[in-house]
Amino acid sequence: MAVELKSTGKCVGLVGVAPKRELNNEIMILLEVTDEYKNNGYATEAGKAIIWWAFEQTRQDMLSAIIKPENLVLRRVIEKLGFVYCDTRILPHDGVESAFDCFKLYHTDYLPGPEWDDNNLYLPENMAAFFDRRALGYNDHMLSGGGIDDYIKLGKSIPITQEPISILDIGCGTGIELNYIWEKAPNAHITCIDLSRKMLNILLEHHQDKVEQITAIQASYLSWEYPESTFDMVVSSMTMHHFWQDEKVEIYKKIYSTLREGGVYIESDFIVDAPLAEQYSRRYKKILAHVSTKVSPGEYHIDIPLTVNEQTGLLCDAGFSEVKVLDKCINHGRGAILRAIKSRM
Ligand SMILES: C[S@@+](CC[C@H](N)C(=O)[O-])C[C@H]1O[C@@H](n2cnc3c(N)ncnc32)[C@H](O)[C@@H]1O
Repeated sequence: MAVELKSTGKCVGLVGVAPKRELNNEIMILLEVTDEYKNNGYATEAGKAIIWWAFEQTRQDMLSAIIKPENLVLRRVIEKLGFVYCDTRILPHDGVESAFDCFKLYHTDYLPGPEWDDNNLYLPENMAAFFDRRALGYNDHMLSGGGIDDYIKLGKSIPITQEPISILDIGCGTGIELNYIWEKAPNAHITCIDLSRKMLNILLEHHQDKVEQITAIQASYLSWEYPESTFDMVVSSMTMHHFWQDEKVEIYKKIYSTLREGGVYIESDFIVDAPLAEQYSRRYKKILAHVSTKVSPGEYHIDIPLTVNEQTGLLCDAGFSEVKVLDKCINHGRGAILRAIKSRM
């Protein structure tokens, strides 16, 4: 497509998207402004328009960009548009093999991104208020479009036992995972912690027949007093991606200490590849810096998914000896189930 000046209609460049055969047909953004019109912000403006079009009109999930390493001007534009550097590859170009820096930009929930416009930042909501507001429609939202399979997979990761074991579910929400846990451990007592009163109310309403096997606590699992060496198992489902790495390690240490020796921690969560993890991290750092200079851990509903290696590393940092990825294909390909074991002394 042509990039035209609004004032005169003059064509000052080209913009578009096209699959790149040499890169598994990934959809590339193409962006060029003629020399005479460079340094006027036209490339950035055209880039925003084509990204919006590709994500919103053609439902693309991810865009790529390749740039010659020496083209620092285009690199700046691409990074300003939110693309994240992935690696450098050798690709054919005009009959010769040349090095290209490869970048990715994923479609995330909010467009335009904060990378684009300081005056149009998405403002995060308070965590408890976010889930209180969405509690009524939460189960339909999570279970539709194949979402139920993720809970079935979580259930599969629970060891079978008839013993009256003690389980802690942190960030239990409406308790969708509970029945899948009881399928494997029918006599388990589950302590359910959540910040949101409305999510917990739905949990209790939906599990009235099991009320004697539930202790529901409205609290933050960041500040809750975890009892030492008490639980046989701790479970978290779709809640850990709300925290920064240092906050997560602190939670993992508490989980580690509340588990009995030989106890198991099962986590089902939002996990992404490195460029998307970086994209989320940049986005929320910028948003939180805009909101306040001092934000308490867990105060706002933000998404900071990590890569599976980062997540595994944090669990090891917290003391877990054996960390295994049980499933890498939940949450529409952006999620994993991990199992970490507290070894016996
Ligand atoms: C996406 S929901 C997951 C609910 C449920 N585990 C599931 O998989 O359907 C995340 C839940 O974590 C809870 N949560 C977030 N931060 C929390 C905190 N610091 N303490 C307790 N609960 C928290 C939210 O209130 C919400 O109910």
